[in-house]
Amino acid sequence: MTRSYSIRKRVMVTGGAGFLGSHLCERLLGQGHEVLCVDNLFTGTKQNIEHLIGNPAFEFMRHDVTFPLFVEVDEIYNLACPASPIHYQHDPVQTTKTSVHGAINMLGLAKRLGCKILQASTSEVYGDPVVHPQGEDYWGHVNPIGTRSCYDEGKRCAETLFFDYHRQHGVKIKVARIFNTYGPRMHPADGRVVSNFILQALRGEPITLYGDGSQTRSFCYVDDLIDGLMALMATGDDVTGPVNLGNPNEFTIRELAEKVVARTGAGSELVMKDLPSDDPKQRQPDIGRARSVLGWEPRIQLEEGLTPTIDYFQRFV
Ligand SMILES: NC(=O)c1ccc[n+]([C@@H]2O[C@H](COP(=O)([O-])OP(=O)(O)OC[C@H]3O[C@@H](n4cnc5c(N)ncnc54)[C@H](O)[C@@H]3O)[C@@H](O)[C@H]2O)c1
Repeated sequence: MTRSYSIRKRVMVTGGAGFLGSHLCERLLGQGHEVLCVDNLFTGTKQNIEHLIGNPAFEFMRHDVTFPLFVEVDEIYNLACPASPIHYQHDPVQTTKTSVHGAINMLGLAKRLGCKILQASTSEVYGDPVVHPQGEDYWGHVNPIGTRSCYDEGKRCAETLFFDYHRQHGVKIKVARIFNTYGPRMHPADGRVVSNFILQALRGEPITLYGDGSQTRSFCYVDDLIDGLMALMATGDDVTGPVNLGNPNEFTIRELAEKVVARTGAGSELVMKDLPSDDPKQRQPDIGRARSVLGWEPRIQLEEGLTPTIDYFQRFV
C-alpha cells in the first residue's frame, strides 16, 4: 500500500491569496499536498482563501517577497506580483522590486533548499510583438521606459535571474509565460478587459472598448492554466522553459464584448475610448512547446468559461 505521507509535499505559493494563486493552492491541497500561502495582500484578499483556512494542510503567511524568507518547503511557485496595469502602475517601483527582489529572494531560498522553483512570467515579456503568434524563441519588442515597463522589464529581469541561478548555481527552474487568464476570483477592480466587460454588462452600463475593439486577445480559463502550471512543475529537471501557457484561440475585443452581452442578457451598448499607451494590438500564444513537452493544451473555450466567471461577478453588482 502506498503511504500517502511519502508523496505529500510542502509547497509554497507566493501570491497565493491572488486570483491564480488561490486556485493553485486549492488544487495542490486537492492533490494531498501541504500548502504555505505567502502573500502581502496587496491585490490578493483573505476572501480568496477563506474556504481553505481551517484546513490543517493549509497555512497563510502575510509576507512581502521583497524581503528574504526562510522556510522549509519542497517546491516553490513564485506568483507574487500585481498583474493588472491599474495595480502594477499604482506603485511602479514596488512592482519592479517585487519581480526582481522577489525573484532573488525566492531563488536564494530554492538554492538553499535544493528545490524546484516555478516563475509565473508573462506574455508581457514579448511587449508589443511584431511576430504572431509568439513562440518562446521570440525576444520581444518592449519599451524600457514606458508606464508598463515596471511590469514588463521586471518580469524580463526575473526570467534572467531564473536562468542565471540555473546556469550558475544549478537551481531547478521552471519558467511559465502566462497569457491572459480569466475566471472566478479575478480582482473586480483590476480594469482588465474580461472583468470590466462583465461588470459593465451586469450593471447595465455601456461597455467601453478601447480603440475600435479590433485588437485581439486570447483568453485562457483559470482551470486550464493551473493544469499547465502543475504539469510544468511536474517535469524533470532538464525542463526549464520558458513555456507559453495560454489559449491560442484569438478573439477581437469587440467579439468578447458581444459574447459577454449575450451571456449576461444585458442590453449594454458598446462605446469607444482612446487606446492606452503601449497597449499591444495583438497577443496570441504559440503553445507548440507546451503541447509537446507537457502534453498540455487548454480545454475550456471562452463561452464555457464565461459562465462561472459571470456567476462569480454577480456578488459585486
Ligand atoms: N492573470 C493573468 O492573466 C496573468 C497573466 C500573465 C502573468 N500573470 C502572473 O501570474 C501571477 C499571478 O497573477 P494574478 O492574476 O493572480 O494576479 P493577482 O494580483 O490576483 O495576484 C498576485 C498576488 O501577489 C500578491 N503580491 C503582490 N506583491 C507582493 C509582494 N511584494 N509580496 C507578496 N505578495 C505580493 C498580491 O497580493 C496578490 O495576491 C503574477 O505574477 C502575474 O504577473 C498573470
